[in-house]
Amino acid sequence: MPAQVMPEKTLNGIHVLGREPNSSSPRRLEGKVAIVTGGAGGIGEATARLFAKHGAKVVIADIEDSHGSILANTLSPSVTFVHCDVSQEEDIENLINSTVNHYGRVDIMFNNAGVLGNQPKNKSILDFNTDEFDRIMRVNVRGVALGMKHAARVMIPRGVGCIISTSSVAGVMGGLGPHAYTASKHAIIGLTKNTACELGRYGIRVNCISPFGVATPMLINAWTSSQDDEDEDMKFGLGCEEKVEEMEEFVRGLANLKGQTLRAKDIAEAALFLSSDESKYVSGHNLVVDGGVTTSTNFIGL
Ligand SMILES: NC(=O)c1ccc[n+]([C@@H]2O[C@H](COP(=O)([O-])OP(=O)(O)OC[C@H]3O[C@@H](n4cnc5c(N)ncnc54)[C@H](O)[C@@H]3O)[C@@H](O)[C@H]2O)c1
Repeated sequence: MPAQVMPEKTLNGIHVLGREPNSSSPRRLEGKVAIVTGGAGGIGEATARLFAKHGAKVVIADIEDSHGSILANTLSPSVTFVHCDVSQEEDIENLINSTVNHYGRVDIMFNNAGVLGNQPKNKSILDFNTDEFDRIMRVNVRGVALGMKHAARVMIPRGVGCIISTSSVAGVMGGLGPHAYTASKHAIIGLTKNTACELGRYGIRVNCISPFGVATPMLINAWTSSQDDEDEDMKFGLGCEEKVEEMEEFVRGLANLKGQTLRAKDIAEAALFLSSDESKYVSGHNLVVDGGVTTSTNFIGL
């Protein structure tokens, strides 16, 4: 659908002829080519589904080959799967090159793959484990930087593109994740600002998203594996659905904003906004999807 031309308005004597993005259009990424790393599960899967629904050609990139291929096969012919370990430069290079060979370009690069790390065993800085730290950094930071590098390589000649990465509320403040994870997610926000600064001149927008707790396999597994170390009251029940409900209840309890449950689809909606023309002037931004958790602590009982 063509963009709607708005009637001329006067704003403090200045004439403004507005052209409104068509946000009511059901397919906001029509014809765009998008890569979603970590797209075989959790937030990445929800985003791949939403991007495909909005008309994008989606490449799911993940190390989970069977999940990724089944998901791609069940979605639509415009969704494909490529095996990619984001910490390996040759895998990222192959991902970008094969996408360009197949579709001609990359419009949207969503660097979403990430790992939380073995949190109960390395909770204290006194137990800091260098191998574990390197593992988290390799996936969460090196993986994002490589995604930015190779996406930028093919976006710069076209003078357009959109790079999004998944940080976390743990990238905004302390106390919300293990040390290595927290360091890695802070680094993603820094990388986003710096690359946005460099790539803006080529018309490339670079942003990130910082979700609060979403009951994905990452969080559920972390919670479950912490059972041995935590208080009995913190333990999940046995069934998977039960675990999701308990996790969501736990997050709702911590949240500032009441009456809502944060789900993977909500993060996918944030990625859709940052990928679409509705955010055409947004760059270097960290879109925090946390119901206000990182901006307020109600110390005085407001
Ligand atoms: N779930 C949350 O509460 C939450 C909160 C804040 C940020 N995040 C971030 O969101 C992103 C997605 O997390 P999720 O909750 O959907 O987790 P998830 O574990 O459910 O999904 C992550 C996906 O990434 C893939 N992956 C892991 N290592 C990879 C690698 N080296 N290369 C390619 N793919 C790899 C996994 O196979 C999986 O499909 C992560 O970056 C995570 O840190 C999650």
